[in-house]
Amino acid sequence: MPSSKMARRFIQPLSRRQQRFRTYSIGFVILFTLLYYFSRPIDDLALSFTRHQTWMNDKSNSKRLIVKGSYDWRKAPINHTLASYIPLPTGTPRKLPKVQFEFPSESSSYRTLREKRRVAVRNEFLRSWNSYKAVAWGRDELAPVSYEGIDTFGGWGATLVDSLDTLWIMGLKDDFYQAVEAVAQIDFGKSDSYAISVFETTIRYLGGLLSAYDLSGEKVLLEKAIQLGEMLYRSFDNPSHMPLDRLPIEAAKTGSGFVAESSISFAAVGSLTMEFVRLAQITQENKYYDAVARITTWLDHSQSNTTLPGMFPIWMDTYYMNMSTDRSYTLGAMADSSYEYFPKTFALLGGLEPVYEKLYKDSAVVIDKHMLFRPMLPDNADILYSGDLRVRKHNTVVLDPEFQHLTCFIGGYFALAGKLFSNPHHVDLGRKLTDGCIYAYAAMPTGIMPEIFDVVACEERANCPWNQPLYEEEVLKRASSKYNNDAQAAISELKLPLGFTALRDKRYLLRPEAIESVFLLYRITGEAAYMDHAWDMFTSIRKYSSTPFGNGQVNDITDTQVTEGWGGGGVEDKMESFWLAETLKYFYLIFSRTDMVSLDEWVFNTEAHPFRRPG
Ligand SMILES: *[C@@H]1O[C@H](CO)[C@@H](O)[C@H](O)[C@H]1NC(C)=O
Ligand SMILES: *[C@@H]1O[C@H](CO)[C@@H](O)[C@H](O)[C@H]1NC(C)=O
Ligand SMILES: *[C@@H]1O[C@H](CO)[C@@H](O)[C@H](O)[C@H]1NC(C)=O
Repeated sequence: MPSSKMARRFIQPLSRRQQRFRTYSIGFVILFTLLYYFSRPIDDLALSFTRHQTWMNDKSNSKRLIVKGSYDWRKAPINHTLASYIPLPTGTPRKLPKVQFEFPSESSSYRTLREKRRVAVRNEFLRSWNSYKAVAWGRDELAPVSYEGIDTFGGWGATLVDSLDTLWIMGLKDDFYQAVEAVAQIDFGKSDSYAISVFETTIRYLGGLLSAYDLSGEKVLLEKAIQLGEMLYRSFDNPSHMPLDRLPIEAAKTGSGFVAESSISFAAVGSLTMEFVRLAQITQENKYYDAVARITTWLDHSQSNTTLPGMFPIWMDTYYMNMSTDRSYTLGAMADSSYEYFPKTFALLGGLEPVYEKLYKDSAVVIDKHMLFRPMLPDNADILYSGDLRVRKHNTVVLDPEFQHLTCFIGGYFALAGKLFSNPHHVDLGRKLTDGCIYAYAAMPTGIMPEIFDVVACEERANCPWNQPLYEEEVLKRASSKYNNDAQAAISELKLPLGFTALRDKRYLLRPEAIESVFLLYRITGEAAYMDHAWDMFTSIRKYSSTPFGNGQVNDITDTQVTEGWGGGGVEDKMESFWLAETLKYFYLIFSRTDMVSLDEWVFNTEAHPFRRPG
C-alpha cells in the first residue's frame, strides 16, 4: 500500500477531527455526568446508533467511498471449477440453549467500579490507537518503541481493519468512520508481499470486515469483504479443493495450476470456516460455503481414522488427502482455532448442521481423556492444563505437560460448548482450565503468564499431592546440565515459581487467550470474581508492556524491573494487531454491560470479531 500517500490524504481530516473531538469531549463530560446523576446505565449501543445517524445525514456518501482497487478479484479465472456447490443449510434456525447467565440488575457501587475499569481499558486502547493514527495510519502495525509504522500482513493496514469493530464497540464513532474511509481506499488488487498467509488474512482482515459490517451495516465494508473473499477463494482452486497455506497474489490472477499442500497445519485448513460461512450467509452465495464445507466433510470422514481417533494431527497432507502422516497432537499453535470453530460454527449456522456437533463431541472426549491434566502444585490448586500428545508405535499415547498461552482459549471453549450442547461437565472443565490461566498469571513475578511453561502432570485429577523430590527431578530434566543436579540453584536462577518446572518461553506477546476465557466464563457463570481477576491481569499487562506510544511485547515475565514511562525492563518494538482487535476488546467487554455483544446474539471468530448469530 502506498502508505505515505495515505498518510498525506488523511492529514486534513485528522486535524479537523481533533477539534471536533474536543467539542465532543466536553459534550461527553456533561452527558456522562447527567447519566451518572440520574443513575442510569450508560448505553453504548444507543449512543452509537445516534452518532451513526448523524454521520449518515452529514455525509451520506457511502457510494463515493467505494473504491474497487486496481484489480477486480470477481473476474479472476477459476481453473478447477465445480459441477455444483454444497448449499448453506436451509430451514428455521434452531433455538439453542441460552449461553449467558441471567444477570440481575447491578448495584450502583458495582457499576461505579465497573465503569471506572471500563474507561481505563478504553484509555489504554486510545494510547495505541492515537499513535497508530499519528505515525502508522494505513500500515499493518504500529512499532510501539520506534514510533513508526511497519508492514507485516500484506501491507493493507492490518491494524486498521482489525480494530474497526473495537472502535465501534468502544463507542469511538468518529474514529470508526474515519477508519472506514481509509478502509475504502485499500487496494486488495495488489500486495507488497509475494504471497499472503491465507489463515491470517482470513481471520484478521476478512473477519474484521465482516464483523464491522455486521455491527454497523456500512456497505463499503461488505464490498471490501467480497473483494477480499474472492481473492482468498482462489486459494481453493486446486485439484483437492483444499486451501493453500500461502497464496501467491499475482499467480492467483491467472488461475495457473496450483496444487494443494503436501504438509499443512490443521489450523490453516480448519480455521477459515466461520469467515466463509458468514460471507456466504450475508451474500447468499453458496460457493463460499462450499469451499469450507468440503474441508468439513473431509474432517468428518477422517475423524475416526487418524493415529489418535477423534483428534486431528498437527500436520496433514492435502495433496493426497492423507491425515495419517503425523502422530502429534496439540490444542496450541498450529491446531487451536480449528477445534475452536467446531462449536462456534454450529452456533453461527443456527444449529442446522449437526456435523459440527459431532466433530466437537468426538474430539472433546479424547481431549478430556488424554490431554487435560491436573498439575502438581504446592497449594493443591484444583485446576487443569492441556498438554501436547504424541502417539508412539503400538498406539501408546504420551503426554507432554507443556502449556502455551495460546491454549488458554480452551477454558472459554469448553464452557461455551458446554452451554450450547447442555453439558455441565464441559462447563466445569472450562472453569478449571480458565482457573489454570488465572493461576499462571498470578504465580509469575510480573503477574503475567509466559508464552510457554511446563509443569508436572498428576496421574489422577482427584488425588494430586505435592511431591517436592519429584518436582525437583522434573526441574532438572528440563534445565540445562550446568546446574549439575542442584535443583535449588536452577529454581532460583530460572526464577521458577514453585510448581513450574520450566518457563520455556518467557515472553508475553500481548496475547488475548486468557482474558478471552475469563470474559466468556464471566458471561456464562455470572461470577463477579472473574472481573477482579481480569482487572489484575489488565493492570499487570499495562504496567509491564507500556511504552510512551502504546504497548509492546514483554521480553521476560520474570523481570519486575520497571522504567518510568517505559513499563518493564524489556519491551519489544512489536505490537501485533490483535492487541487492539482482541486483547483490549475482551478487557473492555468484561467491564461493559452484560448485554453489550451478548453471547446469545453474537459469536466471536478466533480474532475476537463478533459475527451475528441467526434467530
Ligand atoms: C488447470 O488445472 C490443470 C489440472 O490441475 C492443469 O494441468 C492446468 O495447467 C491448469 N491450467 C491453467 C491455465 O492453469
Ligand atoms: C480408514 O483407514 C483405513 C485403513 O487405512 C482405510 O481402509 C479406510 O478407507 C479409511 N477410511 C476413511 C473414511 O478414510
Ligand atoms: C498416508 O501416509 C502414511 C504415512 O506416510 C502412509 O503410511 C499411508 O500409506 C498413507 N495413506 C494413503 C491412503 O496414502
